[in-house]
Amino acid sequence: MVKPVVLRSREDLRAWCNNVRASHESVGFVPTMGALHAGHRSLAQASLARGLVTVASIFVNPSQFGPNEDFDRYPRDLDADLASLALEGVAAVFAPSVEEMYPAGDSTTVSVRNLTTPFCGRFRPGHFDGVTTVVARLFAIVGPCAAFFGKKDYQQVAVIRRMTTDLALPVEVVACATVRDPDGLAMSSRNRYLAPEARHRALSLARGLHAASAAYARGERDADVLRGLAHSEVASAMDRIDYVELGDADSLAPLAGQMLTKPAVLAIAAYLGTTRLIDNVVLGVDASPLGGA
Ligand code: PAF
Repeated sequence: MVKPVVLRSREDLRAWCNNVRASHESVGFVPTMGALHAGHRSLAQASLARGLVTVASIFVNPSQFGPNEDFDRYPRDLDADLASLALEGVAAVFAPSVEEMYPAGDSTTVSVRNLTTPFCGRFRPGHFDGVTTVVARLFAIVGPCAAFFGKKDYQQVAVIRRMTTDLALPVEVVACATVRDPDGLAMSSRNRYLAPEARHRALSLARGLHAASAAYARGERDADVLRGLAHSEVASAMDRIDYVELGDADSLAPLAGQMLTKPAVLAIAAYLGTTRLIDNVVLGVDASPLGGA
């Protein structure tokens, strides 16, 4: 097992990526905030399966956390993350300081309109600006590459794709399937905050998505009925709901009061105590999180 080389500066990351391309190989990039789990590892595996020389970034990005969110307590364990990336065969890890990503005098924000309005955009003001600002910077440093993201963050992938197209960045954005525990719980770095009883209640997200997927498979197309099925599962177990909503799978435009005529994303964000969990399924495209429908 070869340990990934750890790069700390933008210059070192840029030089490393340029060297890969100079050797007539292509770069695969896996941006993360660390606290890696099987979902992240699946992104690295997808990159390596394409034969890409793979670099991951580990950076808990302060600009995407709100003032009352979990930036300070977000799990950080670089050694464990390096060990798990080494096992996958990741060649390099970019682990910059906050000052490296946001140097003194920093004044530039990258902001995507429209796609950032619904779902998490309504509840986490400024969150997506933080994501697009840091990802744009990372893409600018890494240069031409394929970059791998998980579909659990469905809206994030849509926003990053839009940004990449609009800014003509030389990056192929690859969306990978959500990885779940065998009981259906979507992998998340925040799952480690959950005590066993809370983890059990967190399964209501997958159950809610399953209820709607199963009804959709039986022919139900009324957005309010589908949403209601998911909502009642989640409301019965979670402490607080930010949203249970259906949106067009491409534009994310809300579909309340409509009959579905094309794929729609059913997305959930809800809390157990102070832990916020999200999950989604694309009706008409994805299998149910609990299998079957
Ligand atoms: O999905 C994440 O882990 C983060 O939002 C990302 C894309 C690494 C940007 O900080």
